[in-house]
Formats: sequence, structure tokens, C-alpha cells
Amino acid sequence: MAYDQETRDALIEMVRRFVDEQCKPIEGQVAEEDAVPKDVVDGMKELGLFGISIPEEFGGLGLNMEEEVLVALELGQTSPAFRSVAGTNIGIGSQGLVMWGNDEQKAQWLPKIASGEIITSFCLTEPEAGSDAGSVKTRAERDGDHYILNGTKRYITNANKADLLTVMARTDQNTPGGKGLSSFLVETTTPGVTIGKPEKKMGQQGAHVCDVIFDNARVPVANRLGGEGDGFKVAMSVLDRGRLHISAVCTGVAERLISEMTNYAVERKQFGEPIANHQLVQAMMADSYAEAYAARCMVLDAAQKRDRGENVTLLAASCKMFASEMVGRVADRAVQVFGGAGYIADYGIERFYRDVRIFRLYEGTTQIQQIVIGRGLAKLAKDGQI
Ligand code: CAA
Repeated sequence: MAYDQETRDALIEMVRRFVDEQCKPIEGQVAEEDAVPKDVVDGMKELGLFGISIPEEFGGLGLNMEEEVLVALELGQTSPAFRSVAGTNIGIGSQGLVMWGNDEQKAQWLPKIASGEIITSFCLTEPEAGSDAGSVKTRAERDGDHYILNGTKRYITNANKADLLTVMARTDQNTPGGKGLSSFLVETTTPGVTIGKPEKKMGQQGAHVCDVIFDNARVPVANRLGGEGDGFKVAMSVLDRGRLHISAVCTGVAERLISEMTNYAVERKQFGEPIANHQLVQAMMADSYAEAYAARCMVLDAAQKRDRGENVTLLAASCKMFASEMVGRVADRAVQVFGGAGYIADYGIERFYRDVRIFRLYEGTTQIQQIVIGRGLAKLAKDGQI
């Protein structure tokens, strides 16, 4: 469902104000303390940010993809750690349930996900299954009304806060690759589920990733998402959606950095005038502006197409590839425009430079997006559609 323009504008304005007033002033503090303060998290809950992509009948805002992208563009205007707090509930932690869950599963969990009462995580990656997502080794063996899960998941966002996990595990030990996988909703209170310590990371302090270990964890059959063997498709359909959301966040961060570098360039004087008058500085501002604009257009177009029911696998991969690489270039130029100040922590630019590096890695590396696009194009050609 799409909201009318007035409601949409009011929502975006509300998020923008929240980001300006509650998040931007404490970006440095969040990085230093490696935590987003509880009152900010509560504020995000009050605004409904944990439930923007959850249907209204389950207590969410029920935004369509375009509207979600518009919100993500705003959330991108501050340190990515803030978005990450709600990011899994909005995206990879909830959307398997939204797209593949049955009525009972949705009624049981979605309202609590939408309100932020419970936090979700998405457990696909393993020590030996990263880009090759189909090679998951975690096993789920049927035992009466339960499956018994054993294995280790790695780099799981928000796992240290999570109550509910979407876990991809191998139900068919004789079928290699994605076809042998199934998806399960697993409560972290289940005996046999252990969450590791948050990893020390290059950036995005305040957002956490941990191992999740399953040691004979008994999961009811009723918690399976879709049928046996659907696990890979659940994961891929969740990622298609997540890649659009992440692309919008990348674009938001790029726009923030363009504003930072431009404001700095008109103030900072060298050779007797603002460096914004220097054409080589202008080139960095111009390239950044045009590339961020291109990313904004791409991600909004892909989101609108998804809302019309079109398959956007290729477009989502294109957006993720372009926007995550683009924000890397923009962050690099921002450091360059700031010069020595760009390297000094007080200015915050070096923090963004570190923060954005992960965008080219998670939810599918740039190289994986290239594979998805390349293979997809070849298939279109074989089917005579290009
Ligand atoms: N939607 C629905 N189905 C899809 C799909 C999609 N987007 N993509 C593939 N499938 C289906 C295919 O149609 C195929 O089905 P059939 O066999 O019935 O035809 C099946 O899935 C297998 O597809 P492939 O043969 O293309 O599978 P593959 O093993 O060659 O791998 C891949 C494809 C694109 C490389 C995939 O493994 C991939 O996306 N890898 C990257 C994984 C990834 O993004 N990991 C990030 C983890 S999450 C994270 O980072 C978040 C965090 O918390 C930090």
C-alpha cells in the first residue's frame, strides 16, 4: 500500500528531524562508547522505525519499497550505526517471515518485531559459507515435531541483542548447494543457542556482529519458513530486498558527505580564497554530487519497479554494486577535500570513511553483485529477452 503524498512527506520530515536532533549530535559519542544510547533506540521505536516494512495489520507502518527507500535515504544522513539498530528488524531479520511466513508465524512475531519489542537477526553466513551462500554446513535434522540444529553462523548483525533469528540450515544432507537448505525461525532463548562476543571492527562502532552457535538446538517444525528445500530462495529473496535498502543508505551517507565537504570547502581558505573556488576541488565535489544523484535515481526506480511487482534481482544487484562503490569514492574524496582535517578523528570524516567500507562487503560483495548481473544478463539473452 502506498501512503498519500502528504503523509509520506510528514513521515520523511519526522525522520529527518529525528536524525538531525537525536543522532547527528552524538555520532562521536556512539562511536566512542560502541553503543547507541537507550533513549535514542526508544525514540526510534516511538517513531515506528523498527516496523516500517512490516504490514499494518501486524502493527507496522506497511511502507512500500519506495517509501522504505525514502526513509533509508534519511537514515543514511547520520552514522550507519543508528540505522543498524533497527536495520535487521526492517530488513533481513524480518522479511523472510513477511514474505514466506504463514499466518500463525506472522501473528506470533511480526507485531513484536514492528514495535521493536524483539530484535531479529539473519543467519546465513558461516565460517566456510560467505559469498558461496549455498554451501551452508549448519545441519537441521528432523526429530519428530522438531529439527535439531548444529553449526556455527558468523558475522551476524545484531545477534547480541537478538530474540529471533532467521536461520538457513541444511535439511537434506545428500543434496549439496542451495537446494538442500531450509529456513527456520529460532528463538535465541532456545537451549543450545549461544551468541558469541561482538567482533572488533574497522568501523560502524555501535553496530555489532557476532557468531551464533547451535549445539543440538531443538526447533519446532512449526517454525520452518516455507517448505523443506526453500531455504536458499528465502535467503535470496530477503537479500534482493535488503540490497535496495542498503543502496539507499549508501546514497544517504554519500549525500551527507557531499554536504560536509561542500560546507568545508566554502569556509576553508588556501591561496587566498575558499578552496571551493579551486577547480580541482570542484571536480571532486562535482563527481560526488553526480554519482550520488545517479544512485538516488537508480534506487528509487528499482524500488518503484519492485512495488509494481517486477522482478528486480538484477536492478537490486546493480544498485548495491553502484551505490556501495560510489559511497566509497565519495568518502575518499571527502577526506581529500578536508585534507589533514579529514584524517583527524574530531572532524568525523575519517569515521565515515571507515564506516562505509563494509557496504561493499555485506549483503553480497561487489563481486557477487557482478556475478548476479552478469549471469542474469546471459539468461535474458538465452531467453531472447535482451
Ligand atoms: N530470488 C529467488 N530465487 C533465487 C534468487 C533470487 N534473488 N537467486 C537465485 N535464486 C534461486 C535460483 O533460481 C536457483 O533456483 P533453481 O535451482 O530452482 O533454478 C537457486 O536459487 C540457486 O541459484 P544459483 O544457481 O544462482 O545459486 P549459486 O549457488 O550459484 O549462488 C549467488 C548464487 C548469487 C552467488 C548467491 O550465493 C549469493 O547471493 N551469494 C552472496 C550471499 C550474500 O549476499 N551473503 C551476505 C549474507 S547476509 C549479510 O551480510 C548480513 C549481515 O548480517 C552482515
